[in-house]
Amino acid sequence: MVKNEKMKKIVAWAKRRALVYQGAEIYGGTGGIYDFGPYGAELKRNLRDYFWQRYIEKRSDIIPLESGIVMKSEVWEASGHTGSGFADPLSECKKCHHRFRADNLKQETKAKDNKFVCPDCGGELTEPRMFNILVKTYLGPAEDSSTIAYLRGETAQGMFVNFKNVIETTRIKPPFGMAQIGKAFRNEITPGNFLFRTREFEQAEIEWFCEPEEIAKKKKSKKTPDFFFEHWVNDWMQMFLDLGISKRNLKFRPHEKTELAHYSVATTDVEYNFPWGFSELAGIANRTDFDLKNHEKHSGRDMKYYDEEVKEKYYPFVIEPTMGIDRTVLALLCDGYYEEKVKGETRVVFKLNPKLSPVKAAIMPLVKKDKLPQIAEKLYKEIIGEGISAEFDESGSIGRRYRRQDEIGTPYCVTIDFDSLSDKKATIRDRDTLKQERVEISKIKDWLINKLK
Ligand code: GAP
Repeated sequence: MVKNEKMKKIVAWAKRRALVYQGAEIYGGTGGIYDFGPYGAELKRNLRDYFWQRYIEKRSDIIPLESGIVMKSEVWEASGHTGSGFADPLSECKKCHHRFRADNLKQETKAKDNKFVCPDCGGELTEPRMFNILVKTYLGPAEDSSTIAYLRGETAQGMFVNFKNVIETTRIKPPFGMAQIGKAFRNEITPGNFLFRTREFEQAEIEWFCEPEEIAKKKKSKKTPDFFFEHWVNDWMQMFLDLGISKRNLKFRPHEKTELAHYSVATTDVEYNFPWGFSELAGIANRTDFDLKNHEKHSGRDMKYYDEEVKEKYYPFVIEPTMGIDRTVLALLCDGYYEEKVKGETRVVFKLNPKLSPVKAAIMPLVKKDKLPQIAEKLYKEIIGEGISAEFDESGSIGRRYRRQDEIGTPYCVTIDFDSLSDKKATIRDRDTLKQERVEISKIKDWLINKLK
């Protein structure tokens, strides 16, 4: 299978199986915006829950935050995002006025004089100009420069502007993390590759506030910003492995000095081998004290931390592990999509970590008669009553029902058949191995709880 063919298959499957739809599709679609269907919404929720449990519930040194999506223009001026650091070089066609990223223009679109021409109509292109990708809006009755605000381009800034609030209203001390999951918006000029580059997406970010090197040295501590950078690079990779993404499809890529974001002195990406090749899935950046210092400068509010032990005030350094939730969903789709031959037929199966599966168990009566549906429905209600996401499915042949569940990644299908009437057992089929096991109906709920632990 050639690589872009795989991508086409993934997009078609994601729509067919209620995972992902084009945003506002009935109006021809909104470029760079996707909607998550019933199963996609569950998958995303499971991914968020996984992150929340791993970093917030199971640790005492990372605390959550939920900040506003729309933030005053001053925030983005201080953070440097209204400047050229958050901008793409664009050329505009003088004829059709379409805009293109100058650094993405392909050799094929060069005219005889060796200048690039418009890939759409062949028209002459302007010299590249920097185009800021923050999404602008207005808050208040007037639409003028005094009411400009921006939809956040990263969730991180909400955590920086609240640093002092958090320090003063909780008892947390550096080193500690603040974590947030939420939407971010970027007016990407060339959204593309499905969920990879969109204009509205979700991020899960941790801002890890730690002592600058001089303070760590004074305390004779090895826990410097470099120490934590190394730690988070390894932890972030481990998180993707724990999510079940194949090791062979993941790698690190340290940034060259020339490609670092305006706030970073060191960044390492975790890359995933998408169907078009290895590309950024997530990143870890050493943001130094850039953000806190700049917010102090622009707001006039003291953003330093007073350390009782060394009796000194300082700006904590920030190590930032960040990931895209939607981009991770795409990696999970690419990693888990399999076509397998079973008894001469091709089955499409979504092999993903059962913790992330939208539906954990499908409960199916073999036929719609002889009390089998009633037994299945009773079991189904018992399972959903336990908080396990399950589906009751009685329509179509059993083979087709299995295929449907395979395609949405349901790890276990439970079938009530005629033997169930006498032996009070049901057959549980494993999505990946296709092995079948007879389990007493009264013990299936606990069997599932145990398997899904
Ligand atoms: N706070 C740092 C920050 O925002 P970034 O590398 O620009 O850094 C972090 O974004 C993560 O957000 C990326 O690794 C990627 O997973 C995701 N991301 C960024 N832009 C995206 C886009 N246009 N569409 C989907 N995901 C995106």
